Amino acid sequence: MAKVIAVTLRKGGSGKTTTSVNLATALQLKGKRTLLVDLDPQANATISVGIDPMALPRHINTLFTDINTTTKEAITTTSFNLPLLPSHPDLAETEAGMRATQIGMLKNLLDPIKDDYDYIVIDTPPAESYLTVNAMAVADEIIIPLQAHYLAMKGLQDAIDEIEQVKKGLNPSLKLAGILPTMVHNRTNVAKTVIEAVTEAYRDYLYPLQVEFSIKHAEATLAGLPIVIYDPNHQGSIAYMQLADMVMRGGENGE
Ligand SMILES: Nc1ncnc2c1ncn2[C@@H]1O[C@H](COP(=O)(O)OP(=O)(O)OP(=O)(O)O)[C@@H](O)[C@H]1O
Ligand SMILES: [Mg+2]
Repeated sequence: MAKVIAVTLRKGGSGKTTTSVNLATALQLKGKRTLLVDLDPQANATISVGIDPMALPRHINTLFTDINTTTKEAITTTSFNLPLLPSHPDLAETEAGMRATQIGMLKNLLDPIKDDYDYIVIDTPPAESYLTVNAMAVADEIIIPLQAHYLAMKGLQDAIDEIEQVKKGLNPSLKLAGILPTMVHNRTNVAKTVIEAVTEAYRDYLYPLQVEFSIKHAEATLAGLPIVIYDPNHQGSIAYMQLADMVMRGGENGE
């Protein structure tokens, strides 16, 4: 039965999509049957793996709106053989009309396919959304990618508080797997200060890994490939492969 990992943080542009896409691909490269789920109406994860949402007959929004489509029917496969439940901009409309009573919808959609995979990795939208609550309802673990920038830190405690709230009601077994520093400018004082502050406050949860800032990440996205495929020897690829190892070992910080 698949372990479900949601990558969440309300702050936009924190590296959620890059982390989801590369973690899912890294797990697949390591021989784990992995499904990437794009739960963001921006469909950035779908586009980043080389799939055009507008050309798809079925996608995640089809599942939310048409009860006759099965989850399996909406799953597609990337050029590098990663199964993907793709998104579509129409999901924005579904999201806008979503009510609190619908926070179990994604769980119902994923339950029938959980035996087909070892891991399901969910990319989530920024900002407050019932879609993210849907992801937290079905997830076993949360990974928070944290842009090493002082503005990003402000949202971190909120994210941790939200996980605690979900644990109290909706999903008691949910756990924070870890916080991954991304877009780290190693030579800047801001990055150092942020990493030090996060280490001080969240030592137990901080992965002993960093994804450094590099333009190659945007290049890989443009090429429609995860960086772990586009440039396997790149620092970011090595870090994401190590993240996959830690996820596979389980436990906080992978320890
Ligand atoms: N380590 C990195 N170094 C430099 N740029 C990066 C890095 N990781 C991601 N990026 C780039 O930063 C931008 C934002 O990253 P990403 O899309 O992963 O964030 P996000 O949290 O999913 O954003 P959103 O909240 O809009 O969904 C993208 O253009 C991506 O290519
Ligand atoms: Mg994103």
